[in-house]
Amino acid sequence: MRVVFLSPVYPPEMQQYTRGLAEVGASVYGIGDTPRAHLPAGLKPYLDDYLEVPRIMDEDDVIARASAWFRGRSVDRVLTNWEPLVLLAARLRERWRVPGMSVDTVRGFRDKQLMKERVAAAGLRVPRSARVRSAKETWAAAERIGYPLVFKPIAGAGSADTYSCRDESELEAVLAKTARVPEASVEEYIQGEEFTYDTVSIDGRPAYENVAQYLPKPIEARGEEWISPVIITVRDLKQAKMQKGIALGRGVLKALGMGDGFTHMEWFHTPSGEAVFGEIGCRPGGARIVDQMNYTGDIDLFREWARVACWKSFEASTERKYNCGIVFKRAKGRGRITRIEGLGRWLQEAGDWVVEEKLLRPGTPRRDWKQTLLSDGWVMVRHPDWDEAKRLSFAAATGIEMYAS
Ligand SMILES: Nc1ncnc2c1ncn2[C@@H]1O[C@H](COP(=O)(O)OP(=O)(O)OP(=O)(O)O)[C@@H](O)[C@H]1O
Ligand SMILES: [Mg+2]
Repeated sequence: MRVVFLSPVYPPEMQQYTRGLAEVGASVYGIGDTPRAHLPAGLKPYLDDYLEVPRIMDEDDVIARASAWFRGRSVDRVLTNWEPLVLLAARLRERWRVPGMSVDTVRGFRDKQLMKERVAAAGLRVPRSARVRSAKETWAAAERIGYPLVFKPIAGAGSADTYSCRDESELEAVLAKTARVPEASVEEYIQGEEFTYDTVSIDGRPAYENVAQYLPKPIEARGEEWISPVIITVRDLKQAKMQKGIALGRGVLKALGMGDGFTHMEWFHTPSGEAVFGEIGCRPGGARIVDQMNYTGDIDLFREWARVACWKSFEASTERKYNCGIVFKRAKGRGRITRIEGLGRWLQEAGDWVVEEKLLRPGTPRRDWKQTLLSDGWVMVRHPDWDEAKRLSFAAATGIEMYAS
């Protein structure tokens, strides 16, 4: 099993997938723009070979170089778990006639307007929306859709340039800020709670399923620096509310022609009890959600994904033992972290339920909280009881304070 894996070094969790691939018996051929000399020592045992390219986002250039590199050799899979590379992987598969999702199928997971059209065509509930390419088209769409609405780039990620607008003046301000966004989607604002629906799927059928709740919704967490965003995986998926999201998610996978691998969907549960589609990617969620899922069931999805991608087999337990919360912290002040308060108390209170504590230490420069949800670090805590997992998560959100100057 010869696997081409795109960007095995960055983002850092890709190193875990590389390990997973090697552990299930694949020969891994990495392609990335990390200089060969900077490959982490811990990664090298898992890589059979590595092609360094000048720009991993330059699809035509990578395709030309990779084709020259692989000339005369056969490839069984071309894989990636990083959103900006999913189309490149599909193009390489088509070019080399390797099994896996086509470019057209992957576009349904990458283009936020196309995905909603395909999901809606299957009779599933999506926000009313329109694709817009100019201010004029945006105003016309806003007229049809009404307020509040959401404006977001077609190929967005990390909530960058995604805004909600309550009225025309807010939309005007957003248009001024997003002039460089070439193509956007204008959508009906969906009220209610927001969840993920994550899977590892085989031929579009989930072998593994997860739901996590955002507290608060990412669009709110992204707007206010003082918020410590919390995400908690839900242990009990049998609840009626979760079942609605799961049924929606399974329908979406079918509607979009999912193949093998990770999916990460976002959905809303409205006050009237409806599950509404948000968006989906054919890759895992970021911001440590795979670690959270692993802690939820004491499994290793880095490896199980690899087993699915190579051998269409999932061997881990799907039993859910915990609700696992992650709490991202943002320091007060600019510059470098100077001190952390309340951590000792929280660690003592949460005791053995704490699974990770990765807050940036004093002396470290702050991360840009607008750029990365990881912010100034995180803690993770799990508990079999939802209310207790939530209480311990919020105790960290409110009780731990970081400062910078
Ligand atoms: N139609 C909508 N109604 C209500 N809220 C929405 C809607 N669309 C997006 N949002 C909010 O904005 C957030 C970001 O939107 P979306 O997920 O589409 O963008 P993104 O850039 O892919 O973000 P991320 O990478 O963080 O998931 C959502 O998580 C949700 O909180
Ligand atoms: Mg999103």
